[in-house]
Amino acid sequence: MSNFAPSILAADFSKLKEEIEQVTAATYLHLDVMDGRFVPNITFGPMLIKDLRPYSKALFDTHLMIIEPERYIEEFAAAGSDIITVHVEAVTHLDRVVNQIKENGCQAGLALTPTTPLSVLDHILTELDLVLLMTVNPGYGGQRFIPYMIDKIVDLRRLIDQRGLEVKLQIDGGVNSSNVQELAQAGVDIFVAGSAIFGAPDPGQQLKKMEEQLSGVNLQKS
Ligand code: DX5
Ligand code: ZN
Repeated sequence: MSNFAPSILAADFSKLKEEIEQVTAATYLHLDVMDGRFVPNITFGPMLIKDLRPYSKALFDTHLMIIEPERYIEEFAAAGSDIITVHVEAVTHLDRVVNQIKENGCQAGLALTPTTPLSVLDHILTELDLVLLMTVNPGYGGQRFIPYMIDKIVDLRRLIDQRGLEVKLQIDGGVNSSNVQELAQAGVDIFVAGSAIFGAPDPGQQLKKMEEQLSGVNLQKS
């Protein structure tokens, strides 16, 4: 079991199969779908996910940075997603979309951009499998972690624990080997990491190194 979700956004798209085969030790593979509307950038859709599916045993963690995600849930599930995460800022009828994700056999994730308050989770938290806190402004890889997100992570960890929930706390953006231990201590369960892993000369080794940094944190705790 690994706590990392390498994001292929930072991989070389001309050899994606080889790239994902370098991170087989990761439990998750993070797939950033961007529509040029919700975020300025455009990436890929369900066809690419379907084509990658046979080459990875990882849980496909599909992060939809698109408006009206309800129009595409079925397609992203059929393409092989295990987790589908939508943005609270992009959805009007959130309960309906969360149910739709589950009805299509996937775990339901909800993403919050950096300045969206945790209070949006009040009534829906019990229904979620995962909350994704964006720790950069969504749209691009390789950005700097926004320092004041640490407090948000700590607050969400407390909220989840106080309510005795199993929902996973995932963060996305600016994670690297210099901050991963501090972030683990703040209460993160799953780390999305793009440039820190695929930007390294040996992504597999880099993943292993960051995993080892986390086991150091656990040792300190026990
Ligand atoms: C950004 C994406 C991230 C991105 C993170 O909008 O959601 O998943 O790949 O990239 P790094 O790890 O380079 O900040
Ligand atoms: Zn992402």
